[in-house]
Amino acid sequence: MTLTSQDFNYVRELVNKNSAIVLEDGKEYLVESRLAPLLRQLGASSIAELVKILKQARTSSLHTNVVEALTTNETSFFRDKSPFDALESDIIPNLIKSNELTRTLKIWSAACSSGQEAYSIALLLREKFPILADWKLTILGTDINTEILARAKGGIFTQLEVSRGLPAAYLVKYFKKIGREWQLQDSIRTQVEFKTMNLAQTWTLAEKFDVVFLRNVLIYFSNETKRQILAQLKNHLRRDGWLFLGSAETPIMLDHAYERVKMGSASCYRLVNKIGEK
Ligand SMILES: C[S@@+](CC[C@H](N)C(=O)[O-])C[C@H]1O[C@@H](n2cnc3c(N)ncnc32)[C@H](O)[C@@H]1O
Repeated sequence: MTLTSQDFNYVRELVNKNSAIVLEDGKEYLVESRLAPLLRQLGASSIAELVKILKQARTSSLHTNVVEALTTNETSFFRDKSPFDALESDIIPNLIKSNELTRTLKIWSAACSSGQEAYSIALLLREKFPILADWKLTILGTDINTEILARAKGGIFTQLEVSRGLPAAYLVKYFKKIGREWQLQDSIRTQVEFKTMNLAQTWTLAEKFDVVFLRNVLIYFSNETKRQILAQLKNHLRRDGWLFLGSAETPIMLDHAYERVKMGSASCYRLVNKIGEK
């Protein structure tokens, strides 16, 4: 299969327009391999044929399928571990003190993929902070990819997925084996609310969060998109809230409103406190 530069450009413009994901020159192999299952499903023999169909309408579910096929959904339970250690040792204990009056805690896993990040947070809170049992907990997971969100909502994971990062004790206590897969207990599953959301558009969120996980997604965007996302995030992060990014991501040089704080081996970010602001 040969992908012409015109067809590659058509696909990458479509993906960029709809998700802000940048597919650089040299990513032709990625487009070919990610679109191969879609071609098989359609009975199309080439990307050229697919592009021809796409060009017949401005938008369709096929356009969405192409964009979703080009998102990278790699994730795992307790990915990179150190942010979860920081939650356990410092962040949650401090939030329990500072939010004592309202007894609310709001955490957002933005770009949550198949849900392991949001569920890791829910598992950690359940296991390590029984005091939160009668608090109002919000754990929100959002992603642009509706297909991956449907998987997240189902809370069913393969053997490979539960063997990556999930402590064995959590698997035994909170999951049930169904055939060859593992179903997360409802009491944890229903703790997380999942919603479709494109980070590159204007957000329709009302809340301000105590903790935001925005990990391993900014890397796919241009600096301009990263700046827009970090700017919008300022309205949804509490003054004393915490932001976690992926290990290859930083707001430094992009937005001076954030400062880095080292917590154990985790790097987290908070809003710089301007004099006079609370
Ligand atoms: C590599 S995964 C990261 C998952 C998780 N945050 C982690 O670190 O393990 C990146 C996720 O970003 C999502 N994504 C890509 N572009 C997006 C956009 N414009 N808005 C929201 N989510 C997006 C993808 O669908 C994918 O699930």
